[in-house]
Amino acid sequence: MFDNTHAHITTWVVALILFVVVLLLQKGGNQKGAKITQMILRLFYLLIILTGVLLFSKHQGYNPALYGIKFLGGIIVIAMMEMILVRGAKGRNTGVLWVVFIAALAITFFLGLKLPLGWNMFS
Ligand code: HEM
Repeated sequence: MFDNTHAHITTWVVALILFVVVLLLQKGGNQKGAKITQMILRLFYLLIILTGVLLFSKHQGYNPALYGIKFLGGIIVIAMMEMILVRGAKGRNTGVLWVVFIAALAITFFLGLKLPLGWNMFS
């Protein structure tokens, strides 16, 4: 978990899938199913952060600035997923949240690919 990104990748892939599932359940009017799935999603938020922090604590010395932005980007992605689901369930507007979500996801993904572990595409 400290030296390869497999566990980290697994956690955010599962979280993105669960995020879509909760959105679909909310749209389909299955509020109970959405609530339960959202609780599982929240567990995966913690696992993303845990695996991310383990990688970060060992490797950030290589480039603290980029690792710092990666860390912040990941947290923003998680915050936006949570806020989109909570506000969406109340029928509130989520337009701005979606813009921030997509931007933060793109930056976080790009930095993940750029940083040296695992996939290393833009070095
Ligand atoms: C949903 C949110 C997140 C997404 C989509 C995401 C995505 C990624 C991707 C695509 C990679 C590259 C994997 C590889 O090269 O094999 C990665 C690596 C990494 N992530 Fe995340 N991440 C997220 C959240 C976080 C958080 C919250 C943290 C910090 C607490 C974090 C810290 C790291 C670190 C330190 C690496 C290793 C970078 C390297 O040296 O290559 N990530 N992440």
